[in-house]
Amino acid sequence: MNIQDGYRFRAMMAGRIALLAGKLLRRNFEGTSRIEFKGTTDLVTETDYASEALVRDELARAFPGEQFMGEEGGGAAFDADLVWIADPLDGTTNFAHRIPHFSVSIACCERGEPVAGAVYQPINDDLFYGWKGGGAWRNGKRIHVSTQSDPMKALAVTGFPYDPTNCLDALVGRVRSVIPRTQGLRRLGSAAMDLCYIAAGLFDIYWETTLKPWDVAAGFLLIREAGGTITNYSGGPAPLNGGEMLATNTLLHPIALQMIQYHS
Ligand code: IPD
Ligand code: CA
Ligand code: CA
Repeated sequence: MNIQDGYRFRAMMAGRIALLAGKLLRRNFEGTSRIEFKGTTDLVTETDYASEALVRDELARAFPGEQFMGEEGGGAAFDADLVWIADPLDGTTNFAHRIPHFSVSIACCERGEPVAGAVYQPINDDLFYGWKGGGAWRNGKRIHVSTQSDPMKALAVTGFPYDPTNCLDALVGRVRSVIPRTQGLRRLGSAAMDLCYIAAGLFDIYWETTLKPWDVAAGFLLIREAGGTITNYSGGPAPLNGGEMLATNTLLHPIALQMIQYHS
């Protein structure tokens, strides 16, 4: 198997396992899940743990001996030579409030670079996947970022950290800067899905500050493969654990950088 075929195989397996985890999420969404608090507002449900166990076990079966990092159980370093990184339930707050928008995200990374991955939104039965050099795909169809170049016709999306204590002014400043310069701003509650929607051209601009590798690894790859651009707020590289991330359809990146920096 050449390198490309290897990445493709990993993307297909990530997709298959995301579908299995999605089935569990869908089933539990209709039932009840015990909720615990990790912080004042940051919660976790028994479904987060169950989904992570499923993803970890299925990956271990398909790729014995390979390293794994999950949001709930931790594990290997995000920049290990080869590691699977998973968010078993992205959008836990939505899930706990019975808002039908959340996902499971699985990515395979080589030394901090995502090379294959999948994100699945089980309520809409919406599967995104891609691999390095092989494009980004949604339910069997190739996807691309939007061709919008007019910020006033661009739809933006963002997310907020669980604990905004030390960044509230900057956060509100960015929101205040973006709202009047774009068609609108959304906050949907699943960073992995926000990134998929940039890759598929539904949204044009996304930013968020305190992100973790499991939130963004798969989406990062999909956006790159779909023709988008991802940087930090200064226009420099945005590593998987870099915290701040601005993702756009590329055309809007320079103006989006200005909007994001404008507040300060
Ligand atoms: C959260 C969601 C949310 C984003 C937060 C994430 P979780 O992940 O992706 O959209 O704004 O920064 O922590 O906790 O639901 O897995
Ligand atoms: Ca998450
Ligand atoms: Ca999560």
